[in-house]
Amino acid sequence: MCGIVGAIGLNNPLEYVQKGLKMLDYRGYDSAGIGFFSNGIDIIKDVGSVEHLMSITPQNIQTNLIIGHTRWATHGSPDIRNTHPHISFNKRICLVHNGVIDNYKEIKDFLFEKGYRFYGETDSEAVANLLEYYYLEKKDVKSAIKETMSLIIGSYAIVFFTNNDPNTLYLFKNSSPLVIGVGDGFNLVASDASPLVKYTNDFIELDDFSFAVINEKEAKVFDREGNPIQAKIINKDIELISHDLKGYPHYMLKEIEEISPVINRIVNNYYINNKYQFDPQLIKDLNESDHIIFIACGTSYHVSLVGGRYFENYGKSASRFIASEWAFHPTFPGQKPFVILISQSGETADLIHCLNIIKQQNLNNLIITNTGGSTLDRNSHYSLLLHAGIEVSVASTKAYVAQTTLLALLAASLKDDYSVIDDLKHCIEVVEDIQNNYKPIIQKTAGELKDHQNIFYLGRSYDYFLSLEASLKLKEISYIHSEAIPGGELKHGPIALIEDGLPVIVFITDPTTAASMRGNIEEVKSRGAKVYVISTRSLSQQGDTIIVNDYAPYLSSVAISTVAFYLAYYVALAKGLNVDKPRNLAKSVTVE
Ligand code: G6P
Repeated sequence: MCGIVGAIGLNNPLEYVQKGLKMLDYRGYDSAGIGFFSNGIDIIKDVGSVEHLMSITPQNIQTNLIIGHTRWATHGSPDIRNTHPHISFNKRICLVHNGVIDNYKEIKDFLFEKGYRFYGETDSEAVANLLEYYYLEKKDVKSAIKETMSLIIGSYAIVFFTNNDPNTLYLFKNSSPLVIGVGDGFNLVASDASPLVKYTNDFIELDDFSFAVINEKEAKVFDREGNPIQAKIINKDIELISHDLKGYPHYMLKEIEEISPVINRIVNNYYINNKYQFDPQLIKDLNESDHIIFIACGTSYHVSLVGGRYFENYGKSASRFIASEWAFHPTFPGQKPFVILISQSGETADLIHCLNIIKQQNLNNLIITNTGGSTLDRNSHYSLLLHAGIEVSVASTKAYVAQTTLLALLAASLKDDYSVIDDLKHCIEVVEDIQNNYKPIIQKTAGELKDHQNIFYLGRSYDYFLSLEASLKLKEISYIHSEAIPGGELKHGPIALIEDGLPVIVFITDPTTAASMRGNIEEVKSRGAKVYVISTRSLSQQGDTIIVNDYAPYLSSVAISTVAFYLAYYVALAKGLNVDKPRNLAKSVTVE
């Protein structure tokens, strides 16, 4: 769970590395380092943020080549010994790594026998030494890469250089992303394309078990046997991967405010000339399957709860699983299941694990992701992109809405039902109204909530699914303990926790459950809870805290998740917390 950058032949490599690492610190941010070539291998590393690393880095470094890394610790604590780059035992190799080497203990034992010693606890240092061992034995870097790739098991994106060549960077990968930016007189590398777009529009996405040798003039790609591969140069929509904050104080706020254009973009992308634009074979496969299995993690799992209901509404049976649970006890309901994986990043390791099982079982599968070119996008059978634009804030907001919107369209397309289009267009108006008119009341509510230690959310049906996400968002960025409870379950246990002054946030947007929810409100109020009701106009009652315009109730997660996101945002802001980078979390969880 780390970010990697590399550059060769660039005029101001330090600026690229500095800005690039900042853009990638959504992949982890507990320590950072750079490696470059002055008279030999040189490194500067620091525990803490990229900003701090840069504050201790001389700005006049002269080097033709540089690599950088931002880390989220997996193997070994986030201290200086374990911070990347790593230098091999005989100081021939300087390396950065993203991923996890499953058999690193065996590799270390093997190298220990050969006289190698280790200064830290990381699996990455073992790879640096293994490369060096074969480099010294074979006297050839490409052979060392081939030998190393044949021995290491796990996920890796690795960039390194040697002590006697200031003009070449080497990279190889499996399961972790690595993109080359092809420039005129320079070449760049990064974990995703965002740091590259300021410099080039031409990208090479490295395939698993391939490696590349790059200098300032060319990028040569090879397969695992060392045979040259004709790499495909691709262009990307730069606007969608831009990290420009556009004047907003935080990415989270910017991304919440992008929700209405994102809904619009998805509708316009998948519905053109009065017709859905999904691959007809995908729709046929979905229609012919007798069971839809949804698998996802975190926020995307909450989307799968809503999406499963959408497919059930069109007569499909569906199951929803948390990836890390399903991976160890996979079940395959139905005779002909179809698996839908949902992942904003397309890189979540738990989900990649699931996809491997699904492929072994030869099951039809689809990934819904925001990240074209990601591991899940490239390895699944079908892929539908969200086109939501890069999401930088660790707490997912616009991607949640985009995923839900896309599933509403996909499910409706099974039966050529176009009513969802108008329903979604109406949601855009509701969201815009919230964005334009509701921030003051949400901010006021946040001020009342910020000092509480526990907050409950209540809802039923679609509002319960939304409550789960609202609660997750609040705990992720405000560190307030929060639970979402289906209204009907309250009496079966959680009501024991209701006490004087406890804030309970209640969603009431569905006519079929509104009366029961009002009953629940009475139950918690009579036990002292302070209730905040978020309702739709036609179901509202005097005293409700936030009343939004009506919309089709099945689109709760599309229409009023914006209220929940603002609320979490303003609570975290009021507490003075780092909204975009909450403690202990990373945007892209590339380890299981
Ligand atoms: C991490 C993030 C969550 C996200 C989850 C799944 O835990 O902090 O915000 O929901 O991963 O990520 P994915 O990219 O697969 O949707």
